[in-house]
Amino acid sequence: MKTIIEPFRVKSVEPIRMTTAVQREDILRRAHFNTFLIHAQDVIIDLLTDSGTSAMSSEQWAGIMRGDESYAGSQSFFRLQHILHELTGFSQILPTHQGRASERILFELVGGKGKVIPNNAHFDTTRANAEHSGAEAVDLAIPEAHDPRSRHPFKGNMDIAALERLIDKVGRDRIPLIMITVTNNTSGGQPVSMQNIRDVRRICDRLNIPLYLDACRFAENAWFIRQREPGFENHSPREIAKQMFELADGATISAKKDGLVNIGGLLLIRDHDLFRKACNSLILTEGYVTYGGLAGRDLDAMAQGFAEVVEPDYLSYRVRSVEYLGEKLLRAGIQIIEPPGGHAIYIDARHFAPHIPREHFPGQAVVCGLYRTGGIRACEIGSVMFGPSRRPDMELVRLAIPRRVYTQSHIDYVAEAAAALFAKRDELRGIRIVEAPDVLRHFTAKFEEM
Ligand code: F0G
Repeated sequence: MKTIIEPFRVKSVEPIRMTTAVQREDILRRAHFNTFLIHAQDVIIDLLTDSGTSAMSSEQWAGIMRGDESYAGSQSFFRLQHILHELTGFSQILPTHQGRASERILFELVGGKGKVIPNNAHFDTTRANAEHSGAEAVDLAIPEAHDPRSRHPFKGNMDIAALERLIDKVGRDRIPLIMITVTNNTSGGQPVSMQNIRDVRRICDRLNIPLYLDACRFAENAWFIRQREPGFENHSPREIAKQMFELADGATISAKKDGLVNIGGLLLIRDHDLFRKACNSLILTEGYVTYGGLAGRDLDAMAQGFAEVVEPDYLSYRVRSVEYLGEKLLRAGIQIIEPPGGHAIYIDARHFAPHIPREHFPGQAVVCGLYRTGGIRACEIGSVMFGPSRRPDMELVRLAIPRRVYTQSHIDYVAEAAAALFAKRDELRGIRIVEAPDVLRHFTAKFEEM
């Protein structure tokens, strides 16, 4: 059979409220052309993020009831610890409320003025936490990552030569750790190969620098390795994930992605001393070490999510359904970052709206167009998001696909709406900022159309 079906049945539904084009025009204006300011009930298909938007399984809901709410030594924590130990090999595991809390603790401990953090591509909160500590965050993706048309199978890879040059330039002592983000979210949800992780590991071993993973989407990365990296075709995603984690000295994880939960995060640390310090920091601001700012029920749902996410049936459906949307857009003539990523499709907005100069935010214009056309909520990842100080190399619109939430007909609808918008792309107008804060402006900025 050719069709890869959703490997689940729907047990509980959440109504979608339909809107008309006239209503959406009014809603968009009242939201100042910023889709973050639109109420969720006014959205038909919400592709703003794949983070915390997953549907939980019946077993995860069972975990919600089972959750042990003891302050210390909760059964739910030990269940989570056991499942994570089996999955990653790590025994020192801290729960946190989400990924950025893990990042805050880690960089508070290892960052600081004068330090330099290399990463294939920092996610914004990772960069912000590194920089907040006083450190400098450096992105070192391979050159192919910047070319939307390059079909490199592992476009998320770290540029090893650039990493060596950076270490030579700043000196080993200024680098407290090297981080690899799997998959690379910022430039397309692109995977990192096992070989690339091993190559970075070799440098880490030689210079005695710890290697950390930003492992939010580790399972999708493992699936790409299985599909694309010679020698892994007969390995299970679980085995591949374990190998990835075994190469690392630690990891920050937002469980809101591949943990298949609506809230939660993890910090894994191999070093005993550093782990002890992280425990103290966790207790100070998040919570005791066996709950880390979450409810016992959240820990239980998370434990089950990490067990389900490495199931081959799930991953094959997951990666294929994102690819399916990407193929439809390409067929409609829309340039996306190729090949399709693991959690999202990224439209190249400069190709979509070549008549809109970068200063007038072609990505935001496409985002507004998608909402007008189909009530679809997407997110600009370009000059609006990065602000005037850091010019991005691409103007992108991300269509992030929540896990296990939308069916194939929803995705067909998204592709139809995008194609309809593309057919009348000449009508898209540039965008002007009316009011915006200095940092993270995409969340609250107010715009107008030109
Ligand atoms: N690292 C990566 C690669 C991420 O994509 C995110 C979140 C985080 C860290 C932070 O995790 O949100 O739990 O604190 N990405 C979301 C997104 C917000 O929409 O891509 P968090």
